[in-house]
Amino acid sequence: MGLVSWPSDSELDRIKTMVAEMAGVSANVVKVVVSPYRICPLGAHIDHQGGIVSAMTINKGIILGFVPSPDSQVLLRSGQFSGEVRFRVDQIQLPDHNAKPNGKIQQNYPSDVMEECKWGSYAKGALYALQSGGHHLKQGITGFIYGTEGLDSSGLSSSAAVGIAYLLALESANGLSISPTQNIEYDRLIENEYLGLKNGILDQSAILLSRYRCLTCMDCKTKIHKLIHPPKFEMEKNAKFKFPYKILLAFSGLKQALTTNPGYNRRVTECREAAEILLKAAVKKAEPVLSNVEQEEFEAHKSKLEPHLAKRAEHYFSENTRVIKGLEAWACGNFEEFGMLISASGLSSIQNYECGCEPLIQLYEILLKAPGVYGARFSGAGFRGCCVAFVDSDYADEAASFVKNEYVKLQPELASHLNKDTSVVICDSGDCARVL
Ligand code: GLA
Repeated sequence: MGLVSWPSDSELDRIKTMVAEMAGVSANVVKVVVSPYRICPLGAHIDHQGGIVSAMTINKGIILGFVPSPDSQVLLRSGQFSGEVRFRVDQIQLPDHNAKPNGKIQQNYPSDVMEECKWGSYAKGALYALQSGGHHLKQGITGFIYGTEGLDSSGLSSSAAVGIAYLLALESANGLSISPTQNIEYDRLIENEYLGLKNGILDQSAILLSRYRCLTCMDCKTKIHKLIHPPKFEMEKNAKFKFPYKILLAFSGLKQALTTNPGYNRRVTECREAAEILLKAAVKKAEPVLSNVEQEEFEAHKSKLEPHLAKRAEHYFSENTRVIKGLEAWACGNFEEFGMLISASGLSSIQNYECGCEPLIQLYEILLKAPGVYGARFSGAGFRGCCVAFVDSDYADEAASFVKNEYVKLQPELASHLNKDTSVVICDSGDCARVL
């Protein structure tokens, strides 16, 4: 893990000092959870249907400094949101209906205001998940949490990174040793049950399982994962060696959280409707998710689907195939092929899954024209946030300037809200979440 540049020693020292002051303890007893953001090059929107996905973390994300409290009290402050969150770990947590994503309760509020009031939900959700798993915690934490400075985290699954950070801190403070697989399930409980988002396990799997420069592959039906290493590049032995690709993130300026956008859950419901019709046609009894339908059954019965449902299923089956091809391309170090598959995945998200929005589609198209870009797509769900691209290392700076210049021409208003230094970010892959 030593090769990963984030977080720096000075960032770690800074957060330790802040928590030490909050808790009135010495900085050397402060622990830090590092919980990276994730990207998903291939396998978009198929995790909730039990599909196969690929993911990586990046060398940026959430840092949570903490010390166990003397009692059951949790006290949290945030670098991004104002106010303090206080609750006790011996209080039973129930799903947070006010933070639910169906939008009914929240509709009258701008999403940033809701997020501001609700930033403690993920910590309470982590407690809810641990309690659901039969853990009766005794020890609270005093902590300070923040995301990589200046970076807009939308589209990078900061929500799962935050949920996982709280899980790891509460577990550490209570002496619980929980496997990554179990924490994937606990974070799923935070998102699906506590917050009501019907998402799959892509984000949690990426954050808890990824390894530097590997592609993490998760079969969301069997929950079996593997790490795909890129080939050993001969030149890597040379000190001046530059790894052949960089990850480029291009931000749109759209920030609405998934939990306040009904579009995500609507698509999940459509996939299930398609699965239900296909299973009925194939005379099969199974949970209505598309992974329970064979590709041949889809081909044989797709005419029974309404056009929009046929498109959702088309996305599912074609995306699964792209993931499998992409894993092979990655293992061979064939970034051209890998990139082409990413761009095809992006197109299917636009045409079949119909989940993009204008600014993100424009960013996608700009990225495809940028110098050195192997491939690009929406990062995450596509309703907001950023696009991700893999780019030839030698062209990364040029590509970043090109994207900045072109996007501002098409979306001057949104671009004006972006931090000029971080509207396009060049980064590297990261490691899994961990406690330092
Ligand atoms: C969000 C969800 C994930 C996944 C992606 C799209 O990040 O949280 O579960 O569905 O969108 O691939």
